[in-house]
Amino acid sequence: LFVIGIGAGDPEHVTVQAVRALNQVDVFFLVDKGDVNEELLALRREICERYIEPGRAYRFVEVADPARDRTADAYTAAVEAWRDARTDLYEGLVADLPDGEVGAFLVWGDPSLYDGTLLVLDEIARRGRVEFEHEVIPGISAVSALAARHRVPLNRPGEAIQITTGRRLRAGLPDGVDNVVVMLDGGQAYLDIEDDVDVYWGAFVGTDDELLVSGDLQGTKAEIERVRASAKARKGWMFDTYLLRRRLPS
Ligand SMILES: C[S@@+](CC[C@H](N)C(=O)[O-])C[C@H]1O[C@@H](n2cnc3c(N)ncnc32)[C@H](O)[C@@H]1O
Repeated sequence: LFVIGIGAGDPEHVTVQAVRALNQVDVFFLVDKGDVNEELLALRREICERYIEPGRAYRFVEVADPARDRTADAYTAAVEAWRDARTDLYEGLVADLPDGEVGAFLVWGDPSLYDGTLLVLDEIARRGRVEFEHEVIPGISAVSALAARHRVPLNRPGEAIQITTGRRLRAGLPDGVDNVVVMLDGGQAYLDIEDDVDVYWGAFVGTDDELLVSGDLQGTKAEIERVRASAKARKGWMFDTYLLRRRLPS
């Protein structure tokens, strides 16, 4: 199996190493995650068409990711049930792969960052019911793409960086960390941050719909909120990431 990072939306994020792997694959597993919509699946197909040599046979197997019960009272139990269902699903895909054929999961961005595929494969290996080998091909994450588009480093020399979620940012900026990258923030946690920080915000980075806003957070948050809301209304969904950096005392 290959777990291939495909980058954050620009087909040119695909690395030479990924292209080499794509050309060895017989079956691409396309997992429809529900909130991940048709546009994200379309990019995966486009990448295959663009980078796989003409004449090479391959096929797609599409499956729907198990639904997660977000209303359940027992949150941990619901998450565990959902993880088990997903492991069963992926295990079935791997078990159905004919002997000698190569399968691949095409993972958005980089497989090491806020993606469950590698943990699921570890769990399948632990269960020991199906045998497989896997190789991971790194991809350009939304974090790298965001920093590049803003033409900024993620940290000033020697400083720490924390990558976190919108839900965790709700507890405030972490102590001792000058640079915080926020992903998976459906609830705009930046609106409640009152610290003296600069923000580098990006939505749909690397795609034709890319939006970038940067500046002092307190003077910029209203603009981000407005730009974000109108893009979300237009497209029906939102993918944004931002870097918050403490300003140095002048
Ligand atoms: C489930 S995580 C997947 C991250 C991915 N593995 C990576 O390396 O970028 C999805 C989150 O990544 C971020 N994201 C992914 N693609 C993005 C893009 N093109 N522009 C901005 N943010 C993006 C958003 O914060 C989104 O909520």
